[in-house]
Amino acid sequence: KKIAILISGRGSNMAVILDAIKRGEVPAEVALVLSNRADAAGLQTASDAGIPVAVVPSKGKSREDFEASVQEELIHAGAEFVCLAGFMRVLSQGFVEAWSGRMLNIHPSLLPLFRGLHVHEQALEARVAVSGCTVHYVTPELDGGPIVGQAVVPVEPGDTPDTLAERVQKAEHILYPAALARCLGGAGNVLPQPGILIAFRE
Ligand code: GRF
Repeated sequence: KKIAILISGRGSNMAVILDAIKRGEVPAEVALVLSNRADAAGLQTASDAGIPVAVVPSKGKSREDFEASVQEELIHAGAEFVCLAGFMRVLSQGFVEAWSGRMLNIHPSLLPLFRGLHVHEQALEARVAVSGCTVHYVTPELDGGPIVGQAVVPVEPGDTPDTLAERVQKAEHILYPAALARCLGGAGNVLPQPGILIAFRE
């Protein structure tokens, strides 16, 4: 399958997906990496890997214009499946429905807990003993679509939002490629990792 990856920043999840594809673990070809920010570091990573990249600035544009341009880029690239990977724009119902069943997102909490922003602050505030991340299909309800898989990590004594985020990100990097592989008909196997529990829905 031809996939597109949408990013806004560092693109570390994008990078691990590219690596997993290269190792033959995800039955996909990345047709496009698209960012809504020209300064997203992940764009360089993608073009270094020989992946076509596009920037569609969201700043100063209406949502309709922005999404129409994104849609045009996706169609032009021949994308059949979309991965949101640290893409920081909320997409409209119309856009989401056009990609229904064909668009994934990763969120850095164990959904349905702690939707939206400042997720690790929310988790620490709630004094939970574990947190983690979720790969889910995107539906118009923000962070509310069907769950593909989740990874659980402990909250450690003395954690700050940054230290917890770092632990959760390590889990994201294992979860996302495997979850994507499963959605595209691959095995999506993960090796057992100390301190990370990973599980998938059928
Ligand atoms: C990840 O923590 C993701 O869950 C969140 O944004 C972060 C993106 O990181 N929504 P990166 O750009 O993939 O490095």
